[in-house]
Amino acid sequence: MSAHSRTEIALITGASAGIGRAYALQLASRCKGLILVGRDAEKLAQVVAELEQPGLSIDSFAVDLTTTEGVTRIMEAIRQKGPVTMLVNNAGFANYGKFAESDLDIEMAMVNLHCNASLALSRAALPYMKNEGRGVVINVSSMGSFFPVKNLAVYAATKAFLNMFSQALQQEVKANGIRVQCLCPSYTISDFSTRDTLAGSDSSKVPDELWWTAEDIVAVSLAQLDSDNSAVMCLPDEDSRKLVHQSLIAQAAEFA
Ligand SMILES: NC(=O)c1ccc[n+]([C@@H]2O[C@H](COP(=O)([O-])OP(=O)(O)OC[C@H]3O[C@@H](n4cnc5c(N)ncnc54)[C@H](OP(=O)(O)O)[C@@H]3O)[C@@H](O)[C@H]2O)c1
Repeated sequence: MSAHSRTEIALITGASAGIGRAYALQLASRCKGLILVGRDAEKLAQVVAELEQPGLSIDSFAVDLTTTEGVTRIMEAIRQKGPVTMLVNNAGFANYGKFAESDLDIEMAMVNLHCNASLALSRAALPYMKNEGRGVVINVSSMGSFFPVKNLAVYAATKAFLNMFSQALQQEVKANGIRVQCLCPSYTISDFSTRDTLAGSDSSKVPDELWWTAEDIVAVSLAQLDSDNSAVMCLPDEDSRKLVHQSLIAQAAEFA
């Protein structure tokens, strides 16, 4: 049986929209319980209404995961509502512009959300997964994690953090039956590019054929978990893998 089809309770951050909502929809039929986290209570309630079905318990928490209070509340939920056997650290946003002119509070909040919240929730969930002898942690990174991205410097750096953390963590917990995956979406249709903090970037220049649906990105993630491919990094397709390969070679040339 695959890693996620045995999941009993999945906790998904950023479940009120986009990729997180797609995880919730695709995991609902395979779980006994879902714990959904986002900021917007109304949007979360809409997702809960879409998901409601006999035999599925759904808890939702409208919290800001850039704050200590928000993270503490979800760590507490992991203790009370678990054992969480799948954790999807997905909530995220990007802040467009030159770092030297940026709003530092927003950049630091992004570090809190992508890095600190992912660490805290993983740290809270992993002992229960170890106890169960199984579990899945998915960290949602980005194709933008493999190379420096001008005007998204902190975003790319936080996602690179998730790549390294995920790969090391997998080595540490593999023997406990726990799978770690680091999903690296490319351009994905969601609310991401219309958030205020991305004003100034122009995603309309991205050719139509490069856009993925959130449903398809999540399907790639879950299919990799289902397959014999135990790679930590999950890139959406062959073109993405080639792009990353070329970029890593180009970066390595700087050290030669
Ligand atoms: N879309 C892309 O092109 C793309 C590409 C690469 C990687 N990604 C990554 O994919 C992940 C999901 O993004 P998406 O495309 O699904 O974007 P989205 O549609 O904007 O959804 C983002 C989700 O994160 C939640 N969130 C944001 N800030 C939060 C906070 N402070 N506390 C709690 N929840 C928060 C949002 O909650 P509210 O709606 O309630 O505010 C929402 O549920 C992100 O980590 C992003 O970096 C996206």
